[in-house]
Amino acid sequence: MQIIDGKALSAKYREKLKSEIQSLKSRGVTPGLAVILVGDDPGSQVYVRNKIKACEELGITGFECRYPADTDEKTVIAKIEELNANPDCDGILVQLPLPRHLDERKILSYIDVKKDVDGFSAYQTGLMCLGTPDLLPCTPHGVIELIKSTGVEIAGKNAVVIGRSNIVGKPMFHLLLQNNATVTVCHSKTRDLGSITSKADILVVAIGKAKFVKKEMVKEGAIVIDVGMDRDENGKLCGDVDFEDVKEKCSFITPVPGGVGPMTITMLMSNTVAAANRRPK
Ligand code: GUN
Repeated sequence: MQIIDGKALSAKYREKLKSEIQSLKSRGVTPGLAVILVGDDPGSQVYVRNKIKACEELGITGFECRYPADTDEKTVIAKIEELNANPDCDGILVQLPLPRHLDERKILSYIDVKKDVDGFSAYQTGLMCLGTPDLLPCTPHGVIELIKSTGVEIAGKNAVVIGRSNIVGKPMFHLLLQNNATVTVCHSKTRDLGSITSKADILVVAIGKAKFVKKEMVKEGAIVIDVGMDRDENGKLCGDVDFEDVKEKCSFITPVPGGVGPMTITMLMSNTVAAANRRPK
């Protein structure tokens, strides 16, 4: 079994991004990313902090926009419209989940699609589904890069995704399909989950249940990608896969932390640089 080191792969990609940012700066363009956070969800606080930190390390301008949990829709939309019009801001991200009184779809729909570095808009989603992607959703894109880093070909493989969220499961399906895998998406209503997952050459797990996947559910020699960010019974950070139980059965596995997480942020930085590259010369 080999561990797929998401931190090391991220560092490699970030080096490449740094030189792209340098050449952008030499023509007077500093990429800018705005991160909007409403409320004080502890997970979101950590994600936003890490995104802003990554901006600082790479020389991207981070616009951090924090609002209290009871902020109304109008205020958030006004901020998005201001950022849409700001030429120094190339990417806009609204951290999810939003407080329940806010309509997520409605708010996201105000982001200029050219600045949609999360790839969550109907436009970017549509391009991805058509197989002509522009700005790809960061976590699924990072997962594809992690799989490719193993050197194992995706084409023709049985890939199984557990989870069907708009952020991970659904786009993951499209990207694996685009890479010519035979893809099955499992979810909470799936019957006999283990019989499906144990046929997976590539298993991507994104359900948000700590240590849910055990070795009985995994095919011998599979590539296992763990998108989970959970806490175990002792409050320690862990994934959706029981790493200790599964590790000897698979060929490659991502750890939590240090697997998918760093790649998600790196892909976000990459989308921001791609958006900045399109500023008028
Ligand atoms: N919440 C969990 N993952 C994500 C993500 O990739 N982007 C945003 N905006 N919110 C998230």
